[in-house]
Amino acid sequence: MRRKLAAGNWKMNGLAADLAQIDMLVAALPSCDVDVLICPPTTLLERMSRRATGIFTGAQDCHAATNGAHTGDVSAAMLVDAGASHVILGHSERRADHGETDAAVCAKLLAAWAADLVAVVCVGETQAQYESGETLDVIRRQLAGSIPDGPTSARLVVAYEPVWAIGTGLVPSLAEIGAVHGFIRAELAARFGERTAQGVRLLYGGSVKPGNAAQIFAVADVDGALVGGASLKADDFVPIVTALNAA
Ligand code: 13P
Repeated sequence: MRRKLAAGNWKMNGLAADLAQIDMLVAALPSCDVDVLICPPTTLLERMSRRATGIFTGAQDCHAATNGAHTGDVSAAMLVDAGASHVILGHSERRADHGETDAAVCAKLLAAWAADLVAVVCVGETQAQYESGETLDVIRRQLAGSIPDGPTSARLVVAYEPVWAIGTGLVPSLAEIGAVHGFIRAELAARFGERTAQGVRLLYGGSVKPGNAAQIFAVADVDGALVGGASLKADDFVPIVTALNAA
């Protein structure tokens, strides 16, 4: 049985005052039987980790090296030191804004695992790739290039985030989400074996909201969500977690 995971990616949002949202989340969740993860900006990670009782906290990126002359970067060990248990890697915004290649993401996963972080690796096609029917080819390539050998189901989570669905209010059809998630699990099984593949949690991400969460969570092979905008406010995120708990 895969334990469900509701993950929030705060992206470059959040100041100290927004930590109050975490207090509301903690207060609302004691009866939930799903894992909840919030990935705030690095500046809030330690403070959030201290007050997020019962909630996992994670980062949104890490450097591939353990330490050294990399101005502005943060290592996996530093994230653990600040209270992180997870790290999002290969988000499409990092691939687009910072030119992160699959090989770079792969190196970061190894660094994350070496520091005992759970890696939430993101894959997903652009609108042009979607429209030209390349979705599965893109996903296959990103999975092959971004995930190193040796994953375990405990330390790998895969998030399918169609780039065109992020922050747009657009969502693939439920059939499309199911097809891609089934494809991802089959690809993982072919490379890492059925046992590992059956244990890895697959999240859908891209315009998940309180109003569409329950339908998405009913799709086979969807084990949770990676939520951007709707994770910033407890009023939006709690109903999403509740829908996952009921799924
Ligand atoms: P939105 O939920 O704002 O579309 O963002 C999704 C996302 O990119 C999460 O990583």
